[in-house]
Amino acid sequence: MRPEGRRAGGAIGPHGPGQPGGPRVRLVPGALEVAEVAARCRSWDEVVAESRRCTACPELAATRTTVVVGDPPAGLLVAGAPPGPGIRRPLLALVGEAPGAEEDRSGRPFVGPAGRLLDELLAEAGLARAEVAVLNVLQCRPTVSARPGGALANRAPAPDEVARCRGWLLRKLDLVQPDLVCTLGLTAATWFLGRRVTLAAERGRVHQVDGRRVVVTYHPSAAIRFGPAGAPMAALRSDLRLVAGVLAESTPDSPSGTVQQ
Ligand code: URA
Repeated sequence: MRPEGRRAGGAIGPHGPGQPGGPRVRLVPGALEVAEVAARCRSWDEVVAESRRCTACPELAATRTTVVVGDPPAGLLVAGAPPGPGIRRPLLALVGEAPGAEEDRSGRPFVGPAGRLLDELLAEAGLARAEVAVLNVLQCRPTVSARPGGALANRAPAPDEVARCRGWLLRKLDLVQPDLVCTLGLTAATWFLGRRVTLAAERGRVHQVDGRRVVVTYHPSAAIRFGPAGAPMAALRSDLRLVAGVLAESTPDSPSGTVQQ
């Protein structure tokens, strides 16, 4: 088994080659509407409210329990809130693939087994999860029913789903303005690098994509699957240390980190 991806989804979006969101031009009905609604959202709260109404992917909307918008970093101002201390910078955004069963139930990203491992590895690297934005390529859980009447299982995001959800992720990145992005798994790596990649070839270094710094690494579920002595665990641990090092060397580019309103 290759450690590249639990759900071998390709990330393809309505954009040109080499653009974040996928390697091929793909105009998907619904993607433009999502992008327009997302672009009008002026705060994280508005993204949450609008996302909850999103039915761009009818199958996902029909089977989801919640829309998992993601965790904003501590200090992101909410609409109408008095000015606070703001986000601590430099700021990291982690981007995974899609919610699983526990995330779908709770409405929060990375709270299942993969999330628990991620929390451990973040702490080990000296990174505080509360100060990190935690996002996914898809906001709704993609499922497949293994047998009639049986429990739903996770599946890879379909390229059209990735394309439709792209506007939400772009808007959240705009609001949060991360100084560094760390992608977890192949779907998110492909979304950012905009081409077909292998994690083995791309991990372990900092990529520059459209003025954004991006480190790609394995998904924690691959690390779980291959076990504590497997290559994905060692790579994930080492890449999160790299991320912590890059952040430590970065100069805060916004003293207050206030990015909204
Ligand atoms: N896997 C992901 O990619 N994201 C989550 O939020 C949970 C599991």
